Amino acid sequence: MTVLLYGRPPAVFDPPAEATQTSPLIPGSAALEEIAPGSVDLAVIHAPPGALERRAVLAHALRALKPGGRIDAMALKDKGGARLKKELEGFGLTVMDEPKAHHRRCRATVEGPLTGLDEAIGAGAARIVPDTGLWSRPGVFAWDRIDPGTARLAAVLPAFKGAVADLGCGVGVLSNVVLASPAVTALTGVDLDRRAVEAARLNVADPRASFQQADVRALPTPGDLDFVVMNPPFHDGGQEDRRLGQAFVRKAAEMLKKGGALWMVANRHLPYEADLNDAFRCVRVVEEGAGYKIFEAAK
Ligand SMILES: C[S@@+](CC[C@H](N)C(=O)[O-])C[C@H]1O[C@@H](n2cnc3c(N)ncnc32)[C@H](O)[C@@H]1O
Repeated sequence: MTVLLYGRPPAVFDPPAEATQTSPLIPGSAALEEIAPGSVDLAVIHAPPGALERRAVLAHALRALKPGGRIDAMALKDKGGARLKKELEGFGLTVMDEPKAHHRRCRATVEGPLTGLDEAIGAGAARIVPDTGLWSRPGVFAWDRIDPGTARLAAVLPAFKGAVADLGCGVGVLSNVVLASPAVTALTGVDLDRRAVEAARLNVADPRASFQQADVRALPTPGDLDFVVMNPPFHDGGQEDRRLGQAFVRKAAEMLKKGGALWMVANRHLPYEADLNDAFRCVRVVEEGAGYKIFEAAK
């Protein structure tokens, strides 16, 4: 039996042990878009919160199912779960749903022709966003706009020299700003989201740049960088988790050479000062206002 899994459903849903993981947020996963149509017996989908992203994921999963194949989809009630049944019915399925562990769980079998899959897949696909001129797609951080914190950091970054990393690079907004300096010799962008990394590769057309999908917390630390830039994440699995941004701060310090510097923006309410002061020799607030703080931290 061929089983496809998307994301990490809580254990109470009994996620299959032997399945092809297809979440773009889990390095090493297969791309859901590339699963052969009509090849899967069961798709277990921990559905993402954004409506366009979720409908595209459901449509891709349904397209991958064989006739008679089953979908078992769940989402937190306040993160799309309340709409899941209607969305699946909209594709022509007869859906059984139940509340479970703060989620809505919907199960259905493909018994006849499905409708609306192409439209949902198109609405969730990668494209150039007119407002930013950048490749992106629903589900990626701030996919159809420039994040205001990122814009503030971009406006104050100095011209760097040497080797730079952009941690949690998203679609490459800060990477492009860094590469405007001809004295930058190499730029490495790292993001957990495969879709963001694919977009960054299209958005940053510079031979000095390279991008990789990885968890920043697991990166090796040769300590050879001159600069790090970042607008670190503070959500993990949809929940606020300040430890994630704090781990980014410590990792940035380990990746820098002595004398190197971190430039980062953070929401003003987030407590990064203690970690910055622990990991760096000298920390200065470059700018504060409109809900953001920008730090320069020298190692
Ligand atoms: C606040 S966004 C900033 C994105 C981009 N730098 C920008 O300014 O638009 C944080 C980014 O970190 C990524 N991210 C989240 N957790 C991560 C992790 N553990 N390792 C690497 N990247 C992660 C997210 O996918 C997201 O793109």
